[in-house]
Amino acid sequence: MVASMTDVVKRYKNTVALDHFSMSVKKGEVLGLLGPNGAGKSTAIRVLCRLTDADAGQISLFGAPAKGQALAQKRRIGLVPQDLALYESLSARENLHYFGRLYDVPPPRRRERAEELLELLGLADVAKKACKKFSGGMKRRLNIGCALMHAPELLILDEPTVGVDPQSRNHILEFVERSARDGMTVLYTSHYMEEVERIATRVVIMDAGRVIAGGTSEELTRQMLFEDTLTVELKAPAPALTDSLKAVQGVRQITPEGRNLTVTSDANAFNLSRILELCMPFGVTGVYSHKPTLEDVFLSLTGKKLRDGEER
Ligand SMILES: Nc1ncnc2c1ncn2[C@@H]1O[C@H](COP(=O)(O)OP(=O)(O)OP(=O)(O)O)[C@@H](O)[C@H]1O
Ligand SMILES: [Mg+2]
Repeated sequence: MVASMTDVVKRYKNTVALDHFSMSVKKGEVLGLLGPNGAGKSTAIRVLCRLTDADAGQISLFGAPAKGQALAQKRRIGLVPQDLALYESLSARENLHYFGRLYDVPPPRRRERAEELLELLGLADVAKKACKKFSGGMKRRLNIGCALMHAPELLILDEPTVGVDPQSRNHILEFVERSARDGMTVLYTSHYMEEVERIATRVVIMDAGRVIAGGTSEELTRQMLFEDTLTVELKAPAPALTDSLKAVQGVRQITPEGRNLTVTSDANAFNLSRILELCMPFGVTGVYSHKPTLEDVFLSLTGKKLRDGEER
């Protein structure tokens, strides 16, 4: 186990930010920590990295209890905070060197590592530019680079793609995927389902300071007793089909609407081929299926959207 939190409670005056929260990160995995605004994601990270004390519970890092300053353990972590931590008047390269110095990376290694990260993060062309002139996405990428100068074993990213352009977002996701392939353990917080679905090997969903579900995204979507919905578009309305479809195993409901027939089935009814077989003689012009996504899982567990009203 690279990191774990057990039964952690963290209060801010009247707010219980973490309410008996437990989570662990295993070596080599990309753990996606998902939760809406104010769920406690950043607090969980701050407690895990020993940046703030918990009121109760245990934290362990790299197989040992994390107590006090835990400096030796912290050195093995690269933290990309939610709020940018960069020196605006320094260039991209200078920022990397600065963070390398903070972590006592020896100068030759520092130079080598900075150039490698500039290249990997797509910032080599702007290495000399003061980062105050950077776009939000470029700053985010540099922020990640700074956390990696000391080649940590565990990389923690707190919503690294908020407010970045699509190109930078893609760059960041590819970079994380690549780091994971190279053996780095990653803890990734986000409220963007599709990002987590893409890169996380395991997902923990939290809300109001508690873990509400966990597993791979397939497990989470499968666990949900969701209905599978299939819409078949026919050449012409076929009222006769309704009765024969109703008799198919697992079918719950048929909703005809003009030439479209929407068939709702129990989860994992595995009746798709039977449904299509019955529809074929009537001329099928289109088939649309709606698989549950992590977003549906989340909505069904919490009754909330991940980020209310935010447009992407
Ligand atoms: N320093 C603080 N003082 C008081 N309350 C705080 C502090 N930090 C966080 N909180 C509260 O604790 C709860 C959890 O906040 P946290 O920032 O951990 O959530 P989050 O999941 O990271 O949210 P976001 O998606 O907005 O970043 C919130 O109710 C927040 O208002
Ligand atoms: Mg946060």
